[in-house]
Amino acid sequence: MTLKASIIADRDFVIAPLDRRVFGTFVEHMGRCVYGGIYEPGHPTADEHGFRGDVLALTRELGVTIVRYPGGNFLSGYDWEDGVGPKDQRPVKLDLAWFTTETNQFGTNEFITWCRKAEVEPMFAVNLGTRGPDEARHFLEYCNHPGGTYYSELRKSHGFERPHDIKFWCLGNEMDGPWQTCAKTATEYGRIAQETGKVMKWVDPSIELAACGSSQRAMPTYAAWEYEVLDTCFDQVDYISLHHYMRNDANDIKEFFAEIESLDYFIKEVAAVADAVAAKRRSKKRIMLSLDEWNVWYKAHTPTDVKKPGWPEAPPLLEEIYNFEDALVVGGALIVMMNNADRVKAGCLAQLVNVIGPIFTETGGAAWRQTIFHPIADCTRLGHGEVLRLKVNTTTFESRAHGDIPHLLATAIHNPQTGDVSIFALNRSTEEAMDLSVDLRGLGEGLVMTASTELHHANLKQVNTKNDEAIRPSVNESARLSGSALTVVLKPQSWNVFALKPAR
Ligand code: AHR
Repeated sequence: MTLKASIIADRDFVIAPLDRRVFGTFVEHMGRCVYGGIYEPGHPTADEHGFRGDVLALTRELGVTIVRYPGGNFLSGYDWEDGVGPKDQRPVKLDLAWFTTETNQFGTNEFITWCRKAEVEPMFAVNLGTRGPDEARHFLEYCNHPGGTYYSELRKSHGFERPHDIKFWCLGNEMDGPWQTCAKTATEYGRIAQETGKVMKWVDPSIELAACGSSQRAMPTYAAWEYEVLDTCFDQVDYISLHHYMRNDANDIKEFFAEIESLDYFIKEVAAVADAVAAKRRSKKRIMLSLDEWNVWYKAHTPTDVKKPGWPEAPPLLEEIYNFEDALVVGGALIVMMNNADRVKAGCLAQLVNVIGPIFTETGGAAWRQTIFHPIADCTRLGHGEVLRLKVNTTTFESRAHGDIPHLLATAIHNPQTGDVSIFALNRSTEEAMDLSVDLRGLGEGLVMTASTELHHANLKQVNTKNDEAIRPSVNESARLSGSALTVVLKPQSWNVFALKPAR
């Protein structure tokens, strides 16, 4: 049987302009993300800074827009001063987040230099575990103040005359988690976020600040945490963070697909809590959401994936090998983020390389694209403009987690400047193809289709390897555009992308 589904799209029905920061990623000092990932002096492709050229090229191809740094759990014991200045004077320290040895050969200025080469915006985080407002204000002065003060002159003495001008700052990381170095209660964290945010905005009023939300939706303090934290630092912050890692422990594809729905619930719940805090104040201010860690992560989650004995330097940690079903779920999560464009204004796929990353490397060797690379690259390439509020008709399937779930998950983006339209569609039926018709009559006359691709494989467990990137997009030959009607057959278990532009 073939399923039937339809979409009506109209440029007058807009959810919100898409903030391109939702297509971000994350680089933490852990495992082989920095060392052996983006930074590997001596690698055949390394430049004069020690940045791997192959990873830089794949990062640009991935098209990510903003990159969070330096953690993650690593952040909560990190002294930023250790990572600046002459490399031969930087201290070697124990990292209590991952039980490794941190050489500090890579730090703030190296990361900024890397960001400029990768053409991405930096997103920085300040340590509110072992440290607090004083270090945060000094660090911001080091990064963003033009000159004439101790810390800004220190930056200049390190070879960076111009300020880094970092706009987006996270106030700590997962401060509710007992695993965090110096975890806090909501009362403790709310106060430190309030005072840190206050002094940071005094140093540089142009910055934007994100407070830590719960480290996952399943935390026992979830929602109460968000309420108390925001009730305390509402005036100082602009965003609340969400972390969402999707799992398939039961090896049940329907429930795995339902994890995408959990993200939608999560986003709407956090927005509701933030708005409840605003309502208490009769405030029009809307706290926006920063989904600053998200991905599929459950396979590389055993004790030996997370910790290696003997305090090693940059050991392989969390080296999740992604398969085809993971790519479908990542694509679904991207659709959910875009369909919540009115509240989700930043997002960071965790992480960029080796550590639960879309890019994988051999130390000293090759770099390649994991399966999840492709839906991300599709969205970063084509996700420009306003997200449309679609009318979607689709059949459903039943899940234990969320009851009936639509087979078809879709979003459409219209660029009012160019008239271009992009449609992303996930067929969540593993058995049936889907006849999809898209009514584009609300998108102007004379569109032509410039791309129609699909990510499909018969084997949900298929992975990509160094020598065989088996999961990669191919052309969907079935797509037809007649007037304003797009018709196409979506294969079972497939991620699909359509690009259209006005005929000139
Ligand atoms: O991304 C890996 C880890 O997951 C991060 O360090 C932490 O913030 C989260 O728990």
